[in-house]
Amino acid sequence: MRNRRAALAAIAGAASLALTLTACGQNSEGGSEEDKGSSEGATIGIAMPTKSSERWIADGNNVKKLLEDKGYKTKLAYGEDDPDQQVAQIENMITQGVKALIVAAIDNKSMNNVLQQAKDADIPVISYDRLILGTENVDYYASFDNEKVGELQGTYIVEKLGLKDGSKKGPFNIELFAGSNDDNNTRYFFQGAMNVLQPYIDKKQLVVKSKQTELNQVTTLRWDGGTAQKRMDDILTSAYRSDRVDAVLSPYDGISIGILSALKSDGYGTKDKPLPVVTGQDAEVASVKSIIADQQSMTVYKDTRELAKVATGMVDALLNDKKPETNDTKTYDNGAKVVPAYLLEPVAVDKENYQKAVVDSGYIKESDLN
Ligand code: GAL
Repeated sequence: MRNRRAALAAIAGAASLALTLTACGQNSEGGSEEDKGSSEGATIGIAMPTKSSERWIADGNNVKKLLEDKGYKTKLAYGEDDPDQQVAQIENMITQGVKALIVAAIDNKSMNNVLQQAKDADIPVISYDRLILGTENVDYYASFDNEKVGELQGTYIVEKLGLKDGSKKGPFNIELFAGSNDDNNTRYFFQGAMNVLQPYIDKKQLVVKSKQTELNQVTTLRWDGGTAQKRMDDILTSAYRSDRVDAVLSPYDGISIGILSALKSDGYGTKDKPLPVVTGQDAEVASVKSIIADQQSMTVYKDTRELAKVATGMVDALLNDKKPETNDTKTYDNGAKVVPAYLLEPVAVDKENYQKAVVDSGYIKESDLN
């Protein structure tokens, strides 16, 4: 039970309703039904990171719709990859009296002050997809098994190169890319992938010719495809004059598209110089098309419709004094507390199973792929 509710329930027993409402600074709309009235028709703030990627547009729309279907009102804002703007948007939502917040942070460490304001106003906070760090004022986390995402990418690479079943020994050349360093998911994705790849790197069956193997050498600020393209260009020029790259670990479809552009500009994609294995994540339309066209090799599909269901279910539970469902209460330590989480399963998708996984499931319309 939230503090304000607990306080209200206690006070209501002893004091008059008018006193209670005045003391708590509530308006009188709810009358004696205040507790119920506070959730019924309440407004929920939804803060999404950017419209530059189709997944976040879908996330925002899905969350909004599910909340509205449950009778809530919503305020949805996109921070356009600017952490200050996102914080200002959330401050605004708090001022406007939202009763809960669902936040997919741009910079996971930028939220301390604004979430203190949320706490002071007794507004519960759901960290959506990306964990907010360094503050106790995060109530629940809804996401996917982020380490598994990386494991699926790493496993795909070693399988495709024939290293996993031992049919090939290598050495193969690989380059590593990670996501934005201000997104907590980045280290989980990278860790998951390296759990699989590192043993092969140690045995020199995989060789990173750029020698850039540490997370802080391979991140891509704000997951930007252009930034990744530039880094791949530089690596191809400096480390691959006479050699060929056989695999590229990419954490996200937008980055994969940038990497593929650099590769194609360097003459990859012909019979003599085939494209390397390139991973991805999010099953974005452009990348699924690229997979069908034998360019990007795979993506990791995360059904964000399910994520929206989990996050909105958490809000609905909290506002109705129920305990949200969780399935992980150990993994996600944000530096201030272990945030109880509900994690969904990611799925590896390539040309073999894209139809079943993302088209038949209704995630992507067949017509969008033509
Ligand atoms: C991550 C998210 C990924 C991808 C990436 C770039 O936080 O988990 O699925 O969307 O951001 O937007």
